[in-house]
Amino acid sequence: MTHRIALIPGDGIGVPVTQAAIAVARAAGAALETEAFPWSCDHYLAHGRMMPEDGIDTLRGFDAILLGAIGWPARVPDSVSLHGLLLPIRKAFVQYANIRPHRLLPGVEGPLKTRDFDILCIRENTEGEYSGAGGRVHQGTPNEVAVETSVFTRTGVERILRFAFEQARGRRGHLASVTKSNAQRHTMVFWDEITDQLATEYPDVIVTRYHIDAMCARMVMAPESLDVVVASNLFGDILTDLGAAIQGGLGFAASANINPDRSAPSMFEPVHGSAPDIADQGIANPMAAIWSAAMMLEHLDQPAPAARMMAAMEAVTARGIGTVPGRDRTDAITDAVLKALA
Ligand code: IPM
Ligand code: MN
Repeated sequence: MTHRIALIPGDGIGVPVTQAAIAVARAAGAALETEAFPWSCDHYLAHGRMMPEDGIDTLRGFDAILLGAIGWPARVPDSVSLHGLLLPIRKAFVQYANIRPHRLLPGVEGPLKTRDFDILCIRENTEGEYSGAGGRVHQGTPNEVAVETSVFTRTGVERILRFAFEQARGRRGHLASVTKSNAQRHTMVFWDEITDQLATEYPDVIVTRYHIDAMCARMVMAPESLDVVVASNLFGDILTDLGAAIQGGLGFAASANINPDRSAPSMFEPVHGSAPDIADQGIANPMAAIWSAAMMLEHLDQPAPAARMMAAMEAVTARGIGTVPGRDRTDAITDAVLKALA
């Protein structure tokens, strides 16, 4: 079955890496039909919007979305560009599970002494600290107040935890649930309670609760002790940049924004962002985008091409190609992956 993919290359290095990812997916035998949408900061400067008013409706008809990166802060404030495109898609399509794998590909040197870790971070992706609830009053005066309210709903917390328990069940059976319930006694205690309630339904999963500060230390000092890690939106955001760092950098950090109910398309994107500083230099590492596209094929029930993509990528990194930031050109890395497939 051929799947219809909406491509949103976005800004900066998002453009070349999505191109590379699609080329590799096709060469791996994926059955894909793509339509590209030029929604980006350029689009904003030309039309005053990051995407057309009916952008969400347009995307709804696709089987999945592959996104490159959004943002060019020198031209459009991030608070505008991200709230005009990336974050609305995650929320509108109820992509409540943001999945980010952290492990070292062969040949990639991380900063840690150990290579022995394989962590799956699961980040709540629609509410929590990213709820958007809040406001500012008395702007520009000494009495100015800014409020940003974290919103945790039973539905939202339960579904992400349940998703995480299921993932742990399918892996090594360990789940780390991350909060800060010693300091945040409403939302985070609520999260802990729901974790404990669900744990009784998953006696085969060993659950450990951590505070976010301790988890940061553990990911550096003992990453091999972790299997599935679940956290709220902001905590998950921060932890997964740490995860990217220990796996050799953002060039290798892949992600999937999943709608587990499949009531709307899921979205797949590398974590690295648009990297304006190196955009147009031809040195963006396409690995994170290729890995994200492989996750997309998994989600679309095309596991064979997904596995071929991962194997080809790993064969290439094992030879030291694409393993050092900025050294190899995007085209050279992509060609090497394509050759490994052929
Ligand atoms: C990420 C990014 C986004 C996030 C930004 C760009 C809004 O950092 O996907 O991790 O915080 O979710
Ligand atoms: Mn982030």
